[in-house]
Amino acid sequence: MTQSPSFAVIPGTAVQAALAGREAEVMDLIESAYRLHGSGRTVNPPSYFLRFPDRPEARIIALPAAVGGEVDTAGLKWISSFPANVAEGLPRASAVLLLNDRTTGYPFACLESSIISATRTAASAALAALVLGRGREQRGRIGLVGTGLIARYIHRYLAATGHPMERIGLYDHSPDRVRGFGDYLRGVCDTPVEHFDDLEGLIRTSDVIVFATTAGTPHVTDPGWFDHAPLVLNISLRDVSADVVLSSVNVVDDVEHCLKANTSVHLTEQATGNRDFLHATLYDVLAGDYTVPTGRTVLFSPFGLGVLDIVLGEFVYRTGDRQVVDGFFSDLETYGVTR
Ligand SMILES: NC(=O)c1ccc[n+]([C@@H]2O[C@H](COP(=O)([O-])OP(=O)(O)OC[C@H]3O[C@@H](n4cnc5c(N)ncnc54)[C@H](O)[C@@H]3O)[C@@H](O)[C@H]2O)c1
Repeated sequence: MTQSPSFAVIPGTAVQAALAGREAEVMDLIESAYRLHGSGRTVNPPSYFLRFPDRPEARIIALPAAVGGEVDTAGLKWISSFPANVAEGLPRASAVLLLNDRTTGYPFACLESSIISATRTAASAALAALVLGRGREQRGRIGLVGTGLIARYIHRYLAATGHPMERIGLYDHSPDRVRGFGDYLRGVCDTPVEHFDDLEGLIRTSDVIVFATTAGTPHVTDPGWFDHAPLVLNISLRDVSADVVLSSVNVVDDVEHCLKANTSVHLTEQATGNRDFLHATLYDVLAGDYTVPTGRTVLFSPFGLGVLDIVLGEFVYRTGDRQVVDGFFSDLETYGVTR
């Protein structure tokens, strides 16, 4: 009789345990994923957006991907973004990740993936801060614009990589969220925390600015706010206008992915009719093919590649606890079992 392929479920508690305290390993994995992607050893088709006419602010995104090399795994992240959840006390994003065997195609695991997604996003931001920040003056004045879950993970990864932190400035539409985040920071680190009422003040006094809002259209339009040439981690992708993009050095994770879905760089392409304002991918910088100038604003816009989720998900599967579901795949004999 054909042996049933194994299938495991990995809940959030197991994912969290597998990743706890392993920031350095995670950073290496994320860097290796960018290198595999940049050298053509991945398949990462466009993400697919499911939207709802009656809830235009909500979406569920499918991110299929396959990774070669030692990881040798395919899969799909299926991630929801429902911003109204936050008012109900639930996180905005929820997700699962399916991993598929590259030989048989069989799915072999389903992982809770909001933690994997937040972790890979934060590790990618911290990697960009490290790589794109080389040679720049690092006073460590961090400005967090949007103080939700992603900002929390990014702070954790910046801290874990030893990024200088002289002050952490916070700005959010919601004063409650700034207060909550400030309380959280004071519980986990000794860095002075400053709450800002005006976004211009925060941007003008920060060397590293992290956008992690849920803004759907640009609300930061004055390139003059960036005259001091900061490093901008544009994680939420839609906060700054084309004028700000055009006055910056632009680094993306993947050109085709990033110039989609009305991101700021996509709007800039529409406004100018070309892509001349893009300078490099993160891989170009990692590979030494592009040197980032130090005297200009650098804007890192990562669309968020499915390959990062696969690499991290495979690591969690390999190193963490899992619950095998017996008999998940059944009826494997072509003509059934007759006796
Ligand atoms: N690029 C990537 O790879 C990637 C990956 C994961 C998440 N994200 C993005 O990161 C963002 C943050 O995600 P999250 O889970 O932390 O969301 P969240 O809802 O927990 O937090 C977002 C915060 O932004 C605030 N906000 C919204 N609009 C604002 C504005 N104009 N100015 C200031 N604050 C504003 C909200 O009040 C909220 O506190 C989302 O846009 C998400 O799509 C990007």
